[in-house]
Amino acid sequence: MNAPLIDPFARAITYLRVSVTDRCDFRCVYCMAENMQFLPKKELLTLEELDRLCSKFVELGVQKLRITGGEPLVRRDIMRFFQGMSRHLETGALRELTLTTNGSQLERFADDLFASGVRRINVSLDTLDDDKFARVTRWGRLPQVIRGIDAAQRAGLRIKINAVALKGFNEDELFTLTEWCASRDMDLTWIEVMPMGDLGGEDRIGQYWSLDDVRAQLSQNYSVTDLAERTGGPARYVRLEETGQKIGFITPLSHNFCESCNRVRLTCTGELYMCLGQEDMADLRQPLRDFPENDVALENAIRAAISLKPKGHDFDYSRQEIGGQMTRHMSHTGG
Ligand code: GTP
Ligand code: 5AD
Ligand code: SF4
Repeated sequence: MNAPLIDPFARAITYLRVSVTDRCDFRCVYCMAENMQFLPKKELLTLEELDRLCSKFVELGVQKLRITGGEPLVRRDIMRFFQGMSRHLETGALRELTLTTNGSQLERFADDLFASGVRRINVSLDTLDDDKFARVTRWGRLPQVIRGIDAAQRAGLRIKINAVALKGFNEDELFTLTEWCASRDMDLTWIEVMPMGDLGGEDRIGQYWSLDDVRAQLSQNYSVTDLAERTGGPARYVRLEETGQKIGFITPLSHNFCESCNRVRLTCTGELYMCLGQEDMADLRQPLRDFPENDVALENAIRAAISLKPKGHDFDYSRQEIGGQMTRHMSHTGG
C-alpha cells in the first residue's frame, strides 16, 4: 500500500542507520572531543519512540537497520529495543538488523544480540597495539575489546572489523591487521578519514591515507580480485586469493560513492539526517510526540525529508585544504 521512499535522484532509501545514544565509553580522536557535552536524557527518544519510528521506516520499505551511537551498547536497556525489532525480521519485512560497535560491551551482550536475530556486526578497531589503541580511543582498552570479539564469535555473530586508515598511525599494521582478521575468519574494511567534528589540533589532511595506496600495498603481497558483491553499505570489496578473505574499502575521499546512496540517519533525538556530509535534517520528534495515536504527520515529515536528500557530500582534500568540513561530530549520527 505504501509508496517506497525514493529521493530526488531516484535512489530508493532502504537502509536506516539509527543512533540510539550520543554517549560513548571511548573518545576516539577522529570522532569526539575529549570533553564532550552530552544531551540531557529528556531530549532523547524513549525506546518506545525509537521502536515506533523504526517500525514506520520498515513499513515504508527500509530493509536494513543498523544501530549505532555513540556506542549503542551503553544505552540503558537497549536489548529491549533489539528484541522489539526482531519481530520485523520474523515477518520478513526487515532483511537485516545489525550494529556498529566499539566492542567494549560485547562480552555482556553478544548472546542477547544473537537471540534478537542479529547475525553480523561491525566492530571498530584501528590497531592491535595496546598503547596505540589507548592513544587513538583515549579511554579504550584493547584487551576488553578482544574479549568482546571472542564472545561475539562464540555467540555465532559474524564480525567485520572497521579500521580508519590513518597515515603515520596504522600504516605499519596493514599486514598484521589483515593476517589477524584472516586467522579469525573476520572481514576487514578500511575507511578514509573524513573531516568531521571540531578538528581542534587534528590535522586531517596529514592523517589522510588514501585507500588507493592501501590497495596497491596489498597487491604487493597478495593477488587481489575485485568482487561485485555488495552488502547494501558503501564498501567495495576485494578478495585476497591467498587467504580467501574479503577486504572492504570505504572511500568517500578518493572515490565518491554517493550516487548509489541508499541510506538516511536518525539521531537519538529524532533528527533525520539525509546525508552524512551535509547539514540538512528534519525533526521527526515533534510529529511523533504531537500525534501519539496516528502516524500521518510522521509519514508526511519523513516523505518531505526524503524529497530534500542532497546529492552527496563535499568532502575534498585534493586542493591541500579541507573541503566540505562538517562541524557535527561523527558520534552525532553514528557514521
Ligand atoms: P555493511 O556494508 O553492512 O557492513 O555496513 P556499512 O559499511 O554501511 O556500515 P558501517 O557502520 O560499517 O560503516 C562504516 C563507516 O563508513 C561509517 O561509520 C562511516 O564512516 C562510513 N559511511 C557509511 N555510510 C556512509 C555514507 O553514506 N557516506 C559516507 N561519506 N560515509 C559513510
Ligand atoms: N572519518 C572516518 N570514519 C570515522 N569514524 C568515526 N569518525 C570518523 C571519521 N572522522 C568511524 C569509526 C567507526 C564508525 C562509527 O565511524 O571508526 O567505525
Ligand atoms: Fe565512540 Fe565509536 Fe566515536 Fe570511538 S568512533 S568515540 S568508539 S562512537
